Amino acid sequence: MCRYAAVVLLLFFGNVFHLSHSTQVNVTDKDGKLCLYANLTASFSVSYEVIPDKNITVSFELPKNVTTEGSQCDTKSSTLKLNFGEGHSLSMNFTMNGKVYQADSITFSYNLSDSVRFPNSLLNETVSVTTKPQITNVGVDTCYSCKSKDLIQADLVNVTLSDVLIQAFVSNGSKSEQITSCKADQPTTPAPPTTHSTNATTPPPTTTPTPTPTLPTPTTGKYSINTVNSTACLLANFGLRIGLKQGEKYQEINLEPNMTKATGSCGANSSELQLTSNSMTIMFSFTSDTTKFRLHALNFTTKTSSGAEFSEVNTNLSLWEATIGSSYMCNKEQNYTITSLLTLYTFNLQVQPFKVTKNAFSTAEECQADAESFIVPIAVGVALLVLILIVLLAYFIGRKRNMATGYESF
Ligand SMILES: *[C@@H]1O[C@H](CO)[C@@H](O)[C@H](O)[C@H]1NC(C)=O
Ligand SMILES: *[C@@H]1O[C@H](CO)[C@@H](O)[C@H](O)[C@H]1NC(C)=O
Ligand SMILES: *[C@@H]1O[C@H](CO)[C@@H](O)[C@H](O)[C@H]1NC(C)=O
Ligand SMILES: *[C@@H]1O[C@H](CO)[C@@H](O)[C@H](O)[C@H]1NC(C)=O
Ligand SMILES: *[C@@H]1O[C@H](CO)[C@@H](O)[C@H](O)[C@H]1NC(C)=O
Ligand SMILES: *[C@@H]1O[C@H](CO)[C@@H](O)[C@H](O)[C@H]1NC(C)=O
Ligand SMILES: *[C@@H]1O[C@H](CO)[C@@H](O)[C@H](O)[C@H]1NC(C)=O
Ligand SMILES: *[C@@H]1O[C@H](CO)[C@@H](O)[C@H](O)[C@H]1NC(C)=O
Ligand SMILES: *[C@@H]1O[C@H](CO)[C@@H](O)[C@H](O)[C@H]1NC(C)=O
Ligand SMILES: *[C@@H]1O[C@H](CO)[C@@H](O)[C@H](O)[C@H]1NC(C)=O
Repeated sequence: MCRYAAVVLLLFFGNVFHLSHSTQVNVTDKDGKLCLYANLTASFSVSYEVIPDKNITVSFELPKNVTTEGSQCDTKSSTLKLNFGEGHSLSMNFTMNGKVYQADSITFSYNLSDSVRFPNSLLNETVSVTTKPQITNVGVDTCYSCKSKDLIQADLVNVTLSDVLIQAFVSNGSKSEQITSCKADQPTTPAPPTTHSTNATTPPPTTTPTPTPTLPTPTTGKYSINTVNSTACLLANFGLRIGLKQGEKYQEINLEPNMTKATGSCGANSSELQLTSNSMTIMFSFTSDTTKFRLHALNFTTKTSSGAEFSEVNTNLSLWEATIGSSYMCNKEQNYTITSLLTLYTFNLQVQPFKVTKNAFSTAEECQADAESFIVPIAVGVALLVLILIVLLAYFIGRKRNMATGYESF
């Protein structure tokens, strides 16, 4: 009994040990300096034909001993090629893009003539499959690290990478100690981003400078708050985009008006508009004094990826100012830094938080940016008018001269 258990345990651990061996390579440049470092575990699962229309699947691993012929490094691009067995290889191409690098492709080539790994294969050729891995936004001079399993699927092949540590661009001959962790490795409960306890001496564990994708212009939402009489007391039309920094991540989100609920209240000298979507809540607080109103406070609340509440508040704003009884308007795209972590972008803005009559905006007071856009058309108009006057003047003068000379010629 005991002996059986021991054998089973031995087999089990033997297997585990076998499974977890990793392959480490150092690629050097022409001067013999380290330029690409990789340490990873890879396993392959390949389906191949043994008799027509009958496939079998074999699995094997990247052995510890590989060669790196075909690997090369450059400042802007590099290739890691791990050759093993009878003409099999796993390779990755990396490119540098500014402050980050990424893997553009991963190629697995296997030689079906290898009768040890592919017994009874009908075909004898070398097959290559290429896919795009999820290795992006790796900070320059950092190692990409991914302990989690990453399954790369292709038609007849699965490649599973794990315990990956790669620095595709080693700058000064030695591997960086800094790490860019893959998403799968990142803790599911990150520290709330509002706590600014960054230790300047220790680098942050993850550096993921996300280049912001260009969002379409947000749809202009039309929001209103009604009194008990269901007449509007606050009107707000705008397209809204939120720029948000959470930890190392900056993202921009458009507010979708058709998924947004507007609530609020109107008071004698303060009105509130609260917009709630499934992902965020924005509270706009307007105040008025005897003559003017303004956006005085903004409270933005969202949830972090871990589900923790994340709030950014500024109660000392003085935006969107206009005379009471009129509305504030700004059609041009505007950006407002609300806090160091929160930026607001508005499009086609018109608000009236006080003294709304007949459910419609009163006369608009336009922002500087809109006013400036009028100056050019006005200038062009004036110039045209002057030109027309000159032409007319020239015509009449010419006519007079002609008539005068006409009389003389008689
Ligand atoms: C494929 O395997 C066969 C048999 O092992 C070998 O002769 C051949 O050289 C291999 N092809 C490549 C491209 O290495
Ligand atoms: C591969 O198979 C074809 C026929 O299917 C044969 O003509 C060719 O010689 C084989 N090549 C190798 C390297 O075995
Ligand atoms: C690859 O993985 C998927 C999902 O686990 C599986 O359905 C498929 O059969 C695998 N293919 C091969 C060739 O192992
Ligand atoms: C900052 O790092 C230093 C040295 O790494 C450490 O002694 C100190 O406790 C750290 N401070 C905080 C606030 O983490
Ligand atoms: C409701 O409407 C009546 C007239 O229709 C008006 O006198 C009253 O002030 C309104 N109340 C509010 C809260 O607007
Ligand atoms: C919301 O509006 C967008 C376009 O602005 C549209 O694509 C989407 O289907 C709408 N969603 C709903 C639930 O109406
Ligand atoms: C707000 O309104 C009340 C009366 O309704 C007035 O006494 C107070 O001075 C106003 N506050 C401001 C800041 O204008
Ligand atoms: C901002 O809104 C959140 C959620 O509604 C709330 O918990 C927080 O107290 C508000 N902060 C301020 C300053 O109003
Ligand atoms: C509010 O803003 C004004 C100027 O915009 C500034 O002078 C004042 O210190 C700010 N107050 C607070 C509490 O931030
Ligand atoms: C914010 O607006 C200013 C002009 O008002 C513009 O120069 C700047 O590029 C804008 N910033 C962004 C991030 O759009």
